[in-house]
Amino acid sequence: MSTFTIDTSTSRATPSPVPGKRMTAPALRARKADGKTEQPIVMLTAYTMRMAQLLDPHCDMLLVGDSLGQVIYGLPSTIPVTMEMMCAHGAAVVRGSWHALVAVDMPFGSYEESPEQAFRSASHIMKQTGCAAVKLEGGEAMAPTIEFLAHRGIPVIGHVGLTPQAVNVLGGYGARGKSREEHKKILSDALAVTNAGAFCIVVEGVMEEIATDIARQSSAPIIGIGASAECDGQVLVTEDMLGMFERTPRFVKRYDDLAARIGEAAAAYADEVRSRSFPTSDQTYRPKS
Ligand code: KIV
Repeated sequence: MSTFTIDTSTSRATPSPVPGKRMTAPALRARKADGKTEQPIVMLTAYTMRMAQLLDPHCDMLLVGDSLGQVIYGLPSTIPVTMEMMCAHGAAVVRGSWHALVAVDMPFGSYEESPEQAFRSASHIMKQTGCAAVKLEGGEAMAPTIEFLAHRGIPVIGHVGLTPQAVNVLGGYGARGKSREEHKKILSDALAVTNAGAFCIVVEGVMEEIATDIARQSSAPIIGIGASAECDGQVLVTEDMLGMFERTPRFVKRYDDLAARIGEAAAAYADEVRSRSFPTSDQTYRPKS
């Protein structure tokens, strides 16, 4: 059990004892041995320093997902997300964590052109944020890029199945792999990404049978989201699982109803301000007598 010392100038809470060592990509890759993962990998998204502090003790990995486009910035998709956004939020999450490996999503347009472009973008993200891995979307077409990065010191997380940056090609966010051909394509995408050297792979929004086939055939750990309990780990968007939104996809389990609780707290505050019952003497400065 750790306790925290707060630095009041930055609100940075330093855990005591400070965890000795952050999780590493090789340690997570090694969780899967002989096709089995005894200890499932726990991953959640984080976009801010404070959320990172709260999630860090419970997670193996914190993902600074480009879902921040919708969750933080109210954008209609992840397409408009920029390198500047990913770097600013990535650095905040690294500052708020000690234990989990922090991975940052490569935004749309920052890696697809060539392995060289991907290396420039990934190294920039790592220098600016201090993160230890990047994630990029795509299967067979991205395998040469993943291999190029992995051979040059950049741990890569793959992402196949429903790939939100491809929404304009896919035509929406529905689950993938309903036909035999699509099943085969997603499986070969995942295996190409594994063989290219991704240290783990996010499999999103696919028919369960596809996820189990991938989990059984991939030597790298598979992190599922809307995939299967047979995956080697799971990830959710934190705001979804906390119940911050009215609507969440079917695969999300809500562990709280924070939207309702925030609404209640704001309503109680508004009532007290309007009735002048806040602040009381407890919250006002008076000269010491
Ligand atoms: O951007 C994101 O949050 C993600 C997760 C949903 C895996 O890619």
